[in-house]
Amino acid sequence: MGASLIDGTAAAAQLHAELRVAVQDLTERGATPGLAVVLVGKDPASSVYVRNKIRKSVDAGFRSFHHELPTSTSESDLLSLIARLNAAPDVDGILVQLPLPDHIDARKVTAAIDPAKDVDGFHPVNVGSLSLGAPALIPCTPLGCMLLIKSVRKDLAGASAVIVGRSNIVGKPLTQLLLREDCTITLAHSKTDDLPLVCRSADVLVAAVGRPGLIRGDWIKPGAIVIDVGINRIEREGRQQLVGDVDFDAAQQVAGALTPVPGGVGPMTIACLLRNTVEAACRRRG
Ligand code: GUN
Repeated sequence: MGASLIDGTAAAAQLHAELRVAVQDLTERGATPGLAVVLVGKDPASSVYVRNKIRKSVDAGFRSFHHELPTSTSESDLLSLIARLNAAPDVDGILVQLPLPDHIDARKVTAAIDPAKDVDGFHPVNVGSLSLGAPALIPCTPLGCMLLIKSVRKDLAGASAVIVGRSNIVGKPLTQLLLREDCTITLAHSKTDDLPLVCRSADVLVAAVGRPGLIRGDWIKPGAIVIDVGINRIEREGRQQLVGDVDFDAAQQVAGALTPVPGGVGPMTIACLLRNTVEAACRRRG
């Protein structure tokens, strides 16, 4: 029997519909949520992500503030812009697209954003609150992963979860979210011994490493929930293609439920960004 597909596009559309209603309510109270998106430089992948984030936020009825700055922008000019956005009453969420050019310290920039407007959930205050189990703005990709996992299994208590990839954006925060659900977590990475064996122990397997097709079919426990966070551009049969970190065709024969790429975690990341912005707006404006 093949795995059932976890349809991230449909789940994101559902979330967008709910958010549109919430945005309308806020707008009727004169408090339309505002999202500021800052892009420094011309990285092609970042430009596509930012364009999608802006389009979706406008579709959902948000006020959108777009700042596209040249690669040569100085760190102090970027910090001044963030200070202005922190003080702007109609801006509820601030997102600075990463990666930033090498001459800008991303950590300093992230820490300069008002934690109450940090809709990426990257500020040390939000990272700390998440790890303490306190209210926090939660990073969008791991939040999207959790919503997809919970759409197929509501009670995760006691489940064995393996995350492959220890990034600050996905692996580490997802560890906290799965721990909150009483999973037993293994955070695996490039130095993990016998990665196939570790993966095979997972009831929930999340791949977030950026290596096309790394996770083979025989690394997957039969019936497992498999979440593929990878978005890799490869050339196959002379054509550019988007593939995940999981060998999709092989995984489909073994897993219980599986996210496709594209159409899995990607759309949920943007939906969760909008959800965080609505949450920030509700908290700020009461
Ligand atoms: N670059 C890759 N993913 C992300 C993300 O979720 N937020 C930001 N700001 N930059 C990114």
